[in-house]
This record gives sequence, structure tokens and C-alpha cells, in this order.
Amino acid sequence: MTNRKPRVLVTREVFDETLDYLRQHCEVLANQDDVPYAPDALAAKLADCEGLMCCLTDRVDAALLAAVPQLKVVANIAVGYNNIDVPACTARGVMATNTPGVLDDSTADLAWTLMLGTARRLPEVERRIRAGEWTGWRLKQWLGVDVHHATLGIVGMGRIGQAIARRAAGFDMKVIYHNRNRIAPELERKANATYVSFDDLLAQADFIVLQVPYSPQTHHLIGAPQLAKMKPTAILINSTRGGVVDDAALIGALKNGMIRGAGLDVFENEPKLNPGFLELDNVVLAPHIGSSTEATRKAMAMLAAQNLVAALRGEAPPNLLNPEARSRR
Ligand code: GLV
Repeated sequence: MTNRKPRVLVTREVFDETLDYLRQHCEVLANQDDVPYAPDALAAKLADCEGLMCCLTDRVDAALLAAVPQLKVVANIAVGYNNIDVPACTARGVMATNTPGVLDDSTADLAWTLMLGTARRLPEVERRIRAGEWTGWRLKQWLGVDVHHATLGIVGMGRIGQAIARRAAGFDMKVIYHNRNRIAPELERKANATYVSFDDLLAQADFIVLQVPYSPQTHHLIGAPQLAKMKPTAILINSTRGGVVDDAALIGALKNGMIRGAGLDVFENEPKLNPGFLELDNVVLAPHIGSSTEATRKAMAMLAAQNLVAALRGEAPPNLLNPEARSRR
């Protein structure tokens, strides 16, 4: 680094320990008030910054990059990076980084929370208790479905998909998966998972968990035709990104009993989710909290900060998405 500490902008509130670390190495413009910046405000704030630490609520596109030619690194506090135009970063020699690994287990836990909560209707029955509707025990009261011994189908078998699969052993489930590429045999063994075609997975799984990254290729991966291929008893879990599911089609399928239920942590146009979801009891809604435990969010923020500092020191950041960018500077 030069004598002057490099300037970095942190777009949203982070932990004190994250800021303390960044301040050892950088001059930090923080936003602890946590009011998201509109695109113009973001460009203005970044005017003389070399580093940007951002979140999935910030769009880093070609227009922003053109406005801030001095920018050297964009460090996302997320494993998903569909909010960043990585090819545009590469073209300008801007390094882009994400936070893989540290959130796998927490995100897998949340996918399981949604599976169990949807299968046993936990949010619905909790709402009913609070509304005073529980008048006593009955044999056929608010019947759910079993998770144990059911078939779990995972679409997207990266680190998080594999962590979800490993948890299924405790529930004696059969695990099938589909992925762009089949994973290595030893990973299949660890996950106790069998590779099947996408259509076979849709037809066979009792629980379908989506864990693919969002991209033009996975936009509306699940729409009306795919919902029609699922069992009428199937439960769909989306714990990855809004847009992988066609929300309007899903609402239609949940309304007409094409599938049994859904557990969702992510939505198209979040946080303005389709109001159709709010009318349904057979959907469990969570506000994009997959990785949201204190330990995991702290680890993500610190990893993003380490990526940022490494890049500004001229080192290769641990989670560099576009190594080609380094040679362009
Ligand atoms: C959260 O959604 C992430 O991508 O880390």
C-alpha cells in the first residue's frame, strides 16, 4: 500500500469488529445508519474510493464502474454475486470477491428449518394458537407430513447443497440430486446422494430444495411446466435466490393443489414479495435469512473485509472471482 491509506466505502451496516479491522488498513466511509444508497448516491460516495464493500442489495454494473474508474476491488458480503456484473469488472480491471464456505452450514440449517417448518406446518399452527383457535387436542388436528424416510431432491449440489444432503442422513432420507456437472464420487458418498436427471428429480422427490446460483440460465428454472411434473404431495424449498422460481406460477400451483407446500427464504423483487403468498397457509415465508446467524454474518463480513484489504495491498484476495482482472491493472 502507499503512504496514504486507501479509501473504501462500506455500503451497509457491518459489525464494529469488521470496521476495526478495515480501519487498520484503510480510510473507511461507513454507513452504519444502514440506509441503502440509490445508484447515483452510490457512485457519488465512491468518487475517490479504491475499494467497495457491498451487499446483495447493491447493484454493481457497467454504468457504476464507468463512473468510478479509480475503483480497484468490489468485495461482496455474500456467496451469491448476481448483483455484480463480473465481466464488466474484469473488463475494467476491477477485482470482484465473494464469501464462500463460511455460510454453508448456517444456510443448510435454514433450508432444513424451512423443510421441517413446512412439513409440520409450524408457522401456520403457531398463528392459530395466537389467534385463540386451539381449543384442545384432536387426532386429526393440523396433520403434517413426515420428513423422515422421504425422498429429498437437491437441485444445485455445490457446498451448500452437499451440506443439506449430509443432514438428511439423520432423517433416514433417500437423497437424489441434479447439478450441471455430476460431483466427484467421494463427495456423492459423503452426501449419500444419487445423481438423477432434472425431470426424474422433479417427478420423484417429496422435498425439492433449490440451491443453484441465480443467473440468466437459472431464471425461472422452476415455472409452471416444472411444477406440473412434481408430485401433488411435493414441498418446494427455495433457499437460494429469488428469480430461480417463477413466483406467480408457484402461487398458482400452491392455490390449486398442484403441490403441497413451499418454504421460501427468497423472492422475486424482494422485499416486495408477490401479495399472493400472503393469502396462503401452505407456504412458509422467511425474509432472506439463510446465512443470518451472528457468527456466520460476522464471518462473512470479516472475509469480505480480508478480501478487500488483500486486493488493495496488491495481493490475490482469497476469494477472487475474476483472476484475469489482476493482470489488467
Ligand atoms: C446470501 O444470500 C448469499 O448469497 O450469501
